[in-house]
Amino acid sequence: MAKEMRKPIILDVNHMMADILGFQYGIASEQVDAMARVAAHAQAAVEKNRGTGWLGWMDLPYNQAEIVAKIEKIAARVRKDFDTFVVLGIGGSALGPIAVQYALNHQRYNDLSAKMRGGPRFYVEDNIDPERMASLLDVIDIKRTCFNIITKSGATAETMSQYLIISDLLKKKVGDGWQKHIIATTDQEKGNLIKLAHKEGFDLFYIPSTVGGRFSELCPVGLLPAAVCGIDIKGLLEGAAAMDERCKTPNLWKNPALLEAVLQYIAMEEMDANIQVIMPYADSLKYMADWFCQLWAESLGKNVTRKGMAVNVGQTPTKALGVTDQHSQLQLYTEGPYDKVITLLKVESFREKALIPHGCEEFADVAFLGGKSLNALIDAERQGTEYALYRSGRMNQTIILPQVNAYTLGQLMYFFQMATAYMGELLDIDAFNQPGVEESKIASYAVLGNQSDKYMKKAQEMKERTESQKRYLL
Ligand code: PA5
Repeated sequence: MAKEMRKPIILDVNHMMADILGFQYGIASEQVDAMARVAAHAQAAVEKNRGTGWLGWMDLPYNQAEIVAKIEKIAARVRKDFDTFVVLGIGGSALGPIAVQYALNHQRYNDLSAKMRGGPRFYVEDNIDPERMASLLDVIDIKRTCFNIITKSGATAETMSQYLIISDLLKKKVGDGWQKHIIATTDQEKGNLIKLAHKEGFDLFYIPSTVGGRFSELCPVGLLPAAVCGIDIKGLLEGAAAMDERCKTPNLWKNPALLEAVLQYIAMEEMDANIQVIMPYADSLKYMADWFCQLWAESLGKNVTRKGMAVNVGQTPTKALGVTDQHSQLQLYTEGPYDKVITLLKVESFREKALIPHGCEEFADVAFLGGKSLNALIDAERQGTEYALYRSGRMNQTIILPQVNAYTLGQLMYFFQMATAYMGELLDIDAFNQPGVEESKIASYAVLGNQSDKYMKKAQEMKERTESQKRYLL
């Protein structure tokens, strides 16, 4: 493995700009300058509320020394006592742990020998598909497994039903001391999990009240699973702090997350680019794209401003993987509607090198690959995609990571969180709630026959909807 690099990530927006991409396709620097005051106001508003309301995540790079020490202690115990570590959680309580593990650990971590892994096998169960639960139980030895139940609200049906299944099994198979197999990560006051944790004496980590689900990766939600799998959690926090430093200026040409928010805002509002494709050119970052998609979608897709005016805003995030999706999506990106911004993630230095041997000399189109490396090939293909997008006048930008490591990943996640917070300000919406998700939760509880008033009323409302017709069933 190459030595870890501690360098800043770079946002390259050349191909977003009209003077590079072409006047009819790109954003004029004057359009950006025209937003300088509004942007500075957005930056000041976020900065002013640092650590309060739902902006507690801005303090996480700085205020967790004691928590990190406790995490490292418990993680060491888990590594010693268990073969397998399973996160039970969903949404913001799952996507970060998945993304960080996949980015920073061996890509076939669970397939390695225990010695090579150095830590337990790792699973994140973020769905309630019964087949998936059965298959997990088929491959783990519950007596040698530790479960981390993560839920900020302490009430999410998916996670709590998983808890019921697992705690029942633990009681039956482990008996006395089953509680040692559970670590709870939840809000300090709200919800049922905290009450259960106190009653049963589970090891316990708090999600600060000022940190919402999708902004919680850098608190114990993400740090404990990462530490259990041997990831440098201090490096993640140091990376986040380094990005935070760069976001302390209201000057949008100096603050990368602010520039990002402004460019996406102009792309959406003035150029009808209502889709953002995030396309890492590194397998290790493919789940980072999932994490980003939730952050951007759930935070910014809203139907009302903070003052209660009706709007329907939000840029649809979607993911693609370079180079795989060159052979699937790229045709659409280069020739389809002009409704997208493509965000490429480039890795300058991969942690491994794979040389392509010489051979097939009789076929010139194959032989030319000999002596090159997969590193050079993936980068050449990234450049090819970037050029094809440029040639067809498609707005695209590149986030450059010198290397994928804890420090650059901390920067990247914090960058996206800041861009999301700024974008919320620019759109004048609450980026930290999710009322649209609540509607579906209430409706599904109503379907399951929950007898409390709220759900019974919803069940009635659902009965009264326009009836389905047979002719539409084929
Ligand atoms: O970002 C959010 O708030 C959501 O995606 C939540 O993380 C998700 O709904 C799970 O909630 P909880 O952690 O309360 O179980």
